[in-house]
Amino acid sequence: MDTVIVLAAGKGKRMKSSLPKVLHPFLGKPMLGRVIESVRKTEADKLIVVIPPFEVVERFVKDNYEDVETVIQDEPLGTGDAVKRALPLIEEEGYSLIVPGDVPLMDTSTLKELSGFKGKADLVVVTTVLEDPFGYGRIVRDKEGNIERIVEEKDADEDVRKIREVNTGVYLVRNELLHRYLDLLGKENAQGEYYLTDIVALAVKDGGVVKPFLVEDHVQFSGVNTRSQLVELEKIYLRRIVDKWLENGVTIHFPETVYIEPEVEIGKDTEIFSGVYLIGRTKIGENCRIQAGVRIENSTIGNGVVIKDNSYIEESIVGDECKIGPMAHLRPGTRLAEKVSIGNFVETKKAEIGRGTKINHLSYIGDAEVGEDVNIGAGTITCNYDGFFKYKTIIGDRVFIGSDTQLVAPVKLEDDVYIGAGSTITKDVPKGNLSLTRAEQKFVPGYTYRKREKMKKLKEEKKNQ
Ligand code: UD1
Ligand code: CA
Repeated sequence: MDTVIVLAAGKGKRMKSSLPKVLHPFLGKPMLGRVIESVRKTEADKLIVVIPPFEVVERFVKDNYEDVETVIQDEPLGTGDAVKRALPLIEEEGYSLIVPGDVPLMDTSTLKELSGFKGKADLVVVTTVLEDPFGYGRIVRDKEGNIERIVEEKDADEDVRKIREVNTGVYLVRNELLHRYLDLLGKENAQGEYYLTDIVALAVKDGGVVKPFLVEDHVQFSGVNTRSQLVELEKIYLRRIVDKWLENGVTIHFPETVYIEPEVEIGKDTEIFSGVYLIGRTKIGENCRIQAGVRIENSTIGNGVVIKDNSYIEESIVGDECKIGPMAHLRPGTRLAEKVSIGNFVETKKAEIGRGTKINHLSYIGDAEVGEDVNIGAGTITCNYDGFFKYKTIIGDRVFIGSDTQLVAPVKLEDDVYIGAGSTITKDVPKGNLSLTRAEQKFVPGYTYRKREKMKKLKEEKKNQ
């Protein structure tokens, strides 16, 4: 039986955080989540995560990854001890892929390549060559180039420190070796820890087949130990995401200002401007124009949509050829059919809006169903909340609502209704009716001139006093 073991029980002291390191978000998702998702694609029979005794980490894994088993390591006594915690769940047969929980960028294709060593080696260590190997375990090879042992930075002498080939902390190992060697590890080293890396020398001594698997792209095996490494790696990965979309027919202007999470999808000939944030499971169609400063979270945008500057869209669905913004806010549960127009300072929430409807200025439409070809005038408000409960507003097709109207829910406007500007509508309006609530307009002829005359006199009197 093949197993994946993720080691995530270390302290992560260098993050200086009250949040465990592996839960720090990497491009919007906790690092550990990114690691689990890349290793689970190797389709092992069992996935085990070794976690610290913190409720939050256990909750995160259990709530998000049902298929993953967790094992608690009470004290971080070293990577060798961490794997030992998982041993009771590992059979004698098969192989284990061991990865650290703080390496969020691992490429599944590299891991699958690594699986290719099954049956051909007892232990494979993934290595890479670094310009600056400081802090990593060094790969010591013999004269024939065979791997001999791994020496940690703190245990290394001057010669070993000069070696630039390092241990990435990723291994493929025959389960049998884990059962045989983990109990033999000592902690007579500079850090007083049980080093998993010591199984290399043990296996070599016993004549096992131990192979280094040297990968060129060291970025994908870079670990996060500090916040500065975290943001640096995010930047590198973000650039890869941008390049992928550029290659796939998406224009991204000023790409260093744009943030696109790995799960996002974008159709071709869509154009994205500076400062755009595309987050979570967002999907954008073809031929869209996403202008500066737009933020879109977990939403689906159709084809040919224009989203103007500084709009914010959350958990919404936007149909083809809609126009949104500038400065519009679509809150969760907004569903726009095709060719809907949502203008400046309009906020929507749980609102289903029909084809061709226009809400162009300064309105709030929440808990509403709006039909097709409706025109909602500036400053229209659905009053959906009485301080206790939320109520629904239903608006039929071809309704025209004059500016500055309050629709006090629950309320229904049937098809072809006309609402006079400045109305407060509390009762349902039947099909084809005009409805308005408005005090009668009065006239006072010549008022302005008399008023001006009076004020002028008053001013003069004050001056002479
Ligand atoms: C380890 C390797 C080093 C390698 C480097 C690559 C050892 C002894 N050294 O060093 O050769 O170059 O990774 O990044 O293995 N962890 C536990 N329990 C523990 C200790 C660690 O679960 O008791 C987990 C950590 O959460 C982390 C991973 O194991 O995800 C690696 O631990 P870390 O302390 O970062 O090891 P390094 O010093 O980086
Ligand atoms: Ca590390």
